Amino acid sequence: MHLGRTTLSKFLIQQLNTRSDGGKLAALLVDVAAAIKAIAAMTARGALGASLGVTAARNASGEEQKPLDVESNTALLRYCEWGGLVAGMASEEMEEPYAVPEQYQRGPFLLIFDPLDGSSNIDLNVSVGTIFSVLEHPGEAAPTTADFLQPGVKQVAAGYAIYGPATMLVLTVGQGTHGFTLDREIGNFILTHPNLQIPADTSEFAINTSNERFWEPPVQRYVEECKAGKTGIRGRDFNMRWIASMVAEVHRILVRGGVFMYPRDTKTPGVHGRLRLMYEANPIGWIIEQAGGMASTGRGRILEVQPDKLHQKIAAIIGSKNEIERIERYHHEFDSGTDQPYTSPLFSERGLYRPEARR
Ligand code: F6P
Repeated sequence: MHLGRTTLSKFLIQQLNTRSDGGKLAALLVDVAAAIKAIAAMTARGALGASLGVTAARNASGEEQKPLDVESNTALLRYCEWGGLVAGMASEEMEEPYAVPEQYQRGPFLLIFDPLDGSSNIDLNVSVGTIFSVLEHPGEAAPTTADFLQPGVKQVAAGYAIYGPATMLVLTVGQGTHGFTLDREIGNFILTHPNLQIPADTSEFAINTSNERFWEPPVQRYVEECKAGKTGIRGRDFNMRWIASMVAEVHRILVRGGVFMYPRDTKTPGVHGRLRLMYEANPIGWIIEQAGGMASTGRGRILEVQPDKLHQKIAAIIGSKNEIERIERYHHEFDSGTDQPYTSPLFSERGLYRPEARR
């Protein structure tokens, strides 16, 4: 066994030593990692853990709650409430913020999390994850909802865990994005992927195409061009993936590049996206940016959006820089009326299905 490896605590103490509250932030992230180890153990038991299926309850966004959603949420609350590090926590699974109980000291941070992202996949034994974000508590008193409503640029730490064949923790404290692998024998997260870098170019995209008719024209244009591959204006073939587990898609993008889109759509009137700004888009957006990628709504940087609700949803288009810039350009051209309507090469003059040939 190689004994000189960098553990999560050693890494955090080194990275955070210039912050006055760096010790406390490191301690909080170690507590989050402890909760993640507990969730990794629960998810790894699969059907043996008797936690599969659904509960009768629904979460704050009206989605079915699984027993593992609830247990993962409880794990994060219990592991992080006691140490005098957080003032309060907010979760995708709880309607209102959670104030630290009176018997514990209140700390300087706010912790926000999606305890089990992609949990619709849990019964299928497909990778799921935990996403978290840390903000500074702006006041002294017990935090109110308004205290949590800070844009993503204010995050002081963000990360996710992926429960796959190996459990990994990927995080940023604003100095690059770094990946750790859980060594189950010694119970420690070990730095295995320092300074992850997303390639600026890619030929891989991920989107739920069953929603195609609800997308805006710039997204339809981008995806059509990718699908046209060598025969279209992109001049090269693209590959598509959809796991329906955001952490798994993001992890793929961090390792080999790509684009992930859950764009604005008209599927549910009044709701302009599927992903939650505070629990998913902000932490993942910062991780992606810190690895050299971009995280956009299509019309601007996700991290600059001022949240107006705790459970607010938003469009998220993230990944390899040159592709995200292109998609933002398509939105801009659409908004300013300067876009070229897309024509599939299959229906063009030289294509297989020329308009007159279809008559
Ligand atoms: O918001 C949660 C989430 O499960 C993401 O992890 C995932 O990318 C997406 O929703 C899946 O959406 P759909 O059900 O449209 O495939």
